[in-house]
Amino acid sequence: MQGNRPDVYITTPLYYVNSYPHIGHTFTTVVADVVKRHYQQLGKKVYFLTGTDEHGEKIAIAANNAGKDPKSFVDENSKRFKSVWDDMGISYDDFIRTTEERHKKVVRGLLQELYEKGDIYFASYEGNYCLGCERFITESELVDGKCPDHGTEPKKVKEENYFFKMSKYADQLKKEFESKKDIIRPEWYRKEVLGYLNEKIDDLCISRPMDRVSWGIELPFDNRFVTYVWFDALLNYISAIGYPDPSYRGYWDVCEHFIAKDILRTHTVYWGTMLLASGIPIYKHLNVHGYWNMSGIKMSKSLGNVVEPSSFKEKYGDEGLRFFFLREMRWGEDADFTIERFVLRYNSDLANNYGNLISRTMGMVEKYYSDKDYLDIKSELPKEHVLKDQLEKLVNSYKADFSSCEFNKAMENMWRLFDDTNKFIADSKPWDLAKTGNKGELDKVIMPVLEVIRICTYMLLPVMPKVSSAILLELGSDNIEKTTFDEFCRWGSQDRIKAKYVNKKFFNRIEENTGGA
Ligand code: MSP
Repeated sequence: MQGNRPDVYITTPLYYVNSYPHIGHTFTTVVADVVKRHYQQLGKKVYFLTGTDEHGEKIAIAANNAGKDPKSFVDENSKRFKSVWDDMGISYDDFIRTTEERHKKVVRGLLQELYEKGDIYFASYEGNYCLGCERFITESELVDGKCPDHGTEPKKVKEENYFFKMSKYADQLKKEFESKKDIIRPEWYRKEVLGYLNEKIDDLCISRPMDRVSWGIELPFDNRFVTYVWFDALLNYISAIGYPDPSYRGYWDVCEHFIAKDILRTHTVYWGTMLLASGIPIYKHLNVHGYWNMSGIKMSKSLGNVVEPSSFKEKYGDEGLRFFFLREMRWGEDADFTIERFVLRYNSDLANNYGNLISRTMGMVEKYYSDKDYLDIKSELPKEHVLKDQLEKLVNSYKADFSSCEFNKAMENMWRLFDDTNKFIADSKPWDLAKTGNKGELDKVIMPVLEVIRICTYMLLPVMPKVSSAILLELGSDNIEKTTFDEFCRWGSQDRIKAKYVNKKFFNRIEENTGGA
């Protein structure tokens, strides 16, 4: 790992292995993957970490219900996450499991350090425990006496445990979040966090007695207890990059977390104070998205309203889903997931608009330039063109939108350009120009359109890697790896474009009656 410092270090949450990946988990992981690929296009070195959260009461209960011992249960379920990520084309660099020794070692080491420093003490505690969240929740968080995320009544728990002096670091943390205005994206979640920190922050119960929960990392200073799962899992972000070896900082200093709002409190109040207590600077960015809902209710295994990506992939392919994710959700806000909505979006944006633009353009090229294998686009492309101006604007706004996680805006703008390009074809009537043999005028229509397709398809590579590569291959763009983003996206940067195609149709309309979601 040393000597290989990335420019960006991207993480997803570590998903609980009590269930299988659904659309919600898949979304965060796909976004992280798209961001990684986009930054790579920009010439940045990116390191991408994901993995599974495997300890704690919830997992122990799920293993027991499945009639399995926790270890074989987590081994099996962790593999499922890996295999779905492989199916979805996720290019993670490391997949960490909290049951791995490399992780446990770091958790024990840090606990010992904080214990010796006096930041961990022993006491008795009584509180409302939500098993779904795996944390004590405060009275003010309850809605009608229930956890708002899981719809269940928390259990009253009273026991002796070890506590981390979270309260000691609350003011310092508040100052961090007050001064770093763009640390949390979107901004309104930073305000929410400042709201948490304006309330009284209690110390954090960080152990569970062995006789109640034995599936966890034993406390290094008291073997009657295991570590509370959140205190264990959050540390993955540094255990995976070699902490406490000083080389971890090369990664940590450029860390971008991606999470949903369900774990905002744990990633700010818990994680922030843990970092401050350990003398580690706070992460660079926390990117927070909203929920995928089904009929207005958060998709979640515990509520039983989930769509699994594997069944989805079999039916509709994985890349349409990747596109849908980015196009449909406004970063930070909730969105509704229905199959009807997916099909509508797929048919209108991919099959009709973009797909049709490609196939009709390739069809015209084959027909009107049938004597050629290649078009000499470099010399035939007009130096000035209305589509050139629009394309240049898009390239710039696309980069800005990606860096602020406004993916839906980036997609919307690109599709507006496809609309305009389709309209430009309709208005310029290349079929009439071909009929009258007006070669010069025909070039002025076809070449700019091809350029829009070439450049936009390149920009879509991170979103739909397989289909975009296939389209670029047809166009003869064999310089993808060698050029930089700005060079590839420069008007006229490719000398020639293929004029004969093996495949012209990349998105087939989904015709089925989708019925209920
Ligand atoms: N294990 C903890 C995280 C520890 S991180 C150190 C956990 N796991 S989880 O399996 O419940 O995953 C929560 C995350 O999954 C969310 O933050 C989000 O990334 C993703 N999602 C799960 N359901 C979701 C939706 N319905 N909608 C959007 N994302 C969702 O919390």
